[in-house]
Amino acid sequence: MDQPAGNSRLVDLIRRGESPEFQLLRPKAGADPYAIYRALAATGRVVRSNLGYWLVTGHQECAALLGDERMGALSGFANRPDVVRGTYPTLERLHDSWFLFADPPRHDLVRRRVAESTARAIRTTIANNLDPLASEMVRAIDWSRPVDIVTRLAQPYPTAVIGDILGVPGRDLGRLRTLTVVMSESMEPFLGTARLDRAERAARELCQYFEELGSTRRRGRAGCLEALVDGADMEAGVGLAHAVLLLTAGQETTVNLVSMGVLALLTQRPELPGPLSGRESVGRAVDELLRFTSPIQLVVRRVLDRVVVDGASFERGDLVWLLIAAANRDPEVFAEPDCLDLGRHHNDHLAFAGGTHVCFGAALTRAEMSAVMRHLTPVLPALEADQDSVLWQRKRTGRGLDRLVVRPRASSS
Ligand code: HEM
Repeated sequence: MDQPAGNSRLVDLIRRGESPEFQLLRPKAGADPYAIYRALAATGRVVRSNLGYWLVTGHQECAALLGDERMGALSGFANRPDVVRGTYPTLERLHDSWFLFADPPRHDLVRRRVAESTARAIRTTIANNLDPLASEMVRAIDWSRPVDIVTRLAQPYPTAVIGDILGVPGRDLGRLRTLTVVMSESMEPFLGTARLDRAERAARELCQYFEELGSTRRRGRAGCLEALVDGADMEAGVGLAHAVLLLTAGQETTVNLVSMGVLALLTQRPELPGPLSGRESVGRAVDELLRFTSPIQLVVRRVLDRVVVDGASFERGDLVWLLIAAANRDPEVFAEPDCLDLGRHHNDHLAFAGGTHVCFGAALTRAEMSAVMRHLTPVLPALEADQDSVLWQRKRTGRGLDRLVVRPRASSS
């Protein structure tokens, strides 16, 4: 495999035993985790790190393992020797409830019930509200001045969308978003106890909020909260826990897709495949942005029963990081993987993972991003990214931006 300049040092570090997991946690890694993935892939498509995790970078291997029933789901807490059970009761209750961290058959049962309770609200929002929301937000921005795309578009848009689906009053959305950002940190690996304490407090506040909203103002509300909380045959508290899950999962990932997508479009300046009005060309462009940006970079699994992959033997209890962002740039599957090609055919990316836990919100995300693209692409040619403004988040499971200022292009002003 071609090695970009600078990678040989990383390969050396990994070979000398410096853990790639910790390299990925460094502040600078957010800007370019791909250099680390490439260095890792150069040592093997399935590698056991010196911390004891299996790290998988190959597309074929990740796809096969995502679909393998011997790979179990894993809550961030389950295998933390430093976290005593009972220390974070709300987080534990949520993680224990969510189908995200459950294996079949419980996973399939709860996922089906949540899907039944939310399908109508999601369909209604997609059909009636996405396009007007995207149009209104893009039109409200004065593009003749520098603007932070994260705070003006990438954050408020998905927040308004998931709020509409759940039936959350608009005035509460800002506060809820802050809480979900803090709470979602509980899903990051190697989190210190101070941040877990904050995540527990945020989780408690979120649960209280939905309890109150569900009990006092439920009847006759728009959105699916009522159906979720009253969900047929749902154990007590499970529907409410999933309101918290949908609010959390439905925001940050899409926020990061929009912000990193705009950055990619402005810095890579790809040839647009004709006017982005046809459904097919918009859909292809959205999937390429998903592949290229990979807002979720990795998913973690616990081995339930022995699996042999690429000559490596995973034993029961082993922990495996499936680096789906690396798989999305696998040169054996994608021609010119580091190039943004909005017209790319055969884009079998793993941005939504796959198998049992394939993203519940994939159709909604595609529809959300398509609406943004339709309204944003006409204004983008006159804009440029202020590279000095770019602020990457310090996360490893997810990847995204805290700030991205765009401004009129020097040549077009
Ligand atoms: C850019 C947007 C998004 C990306 C990249 C994304 C990515 C992912 C990935 C990679 C997984 C698999 C996690 C695992 O296997 O451990 C997942 C699962 C999930 N996602 Fe998304 N997601 C996005 C948007 C959404 C939205 C908008 C919602 C909700 C409305 C959502 C809800 C969920 C849920 C509930 C799961 C758990 C599925 C299961 O365990 O069966 N996601 N997502």
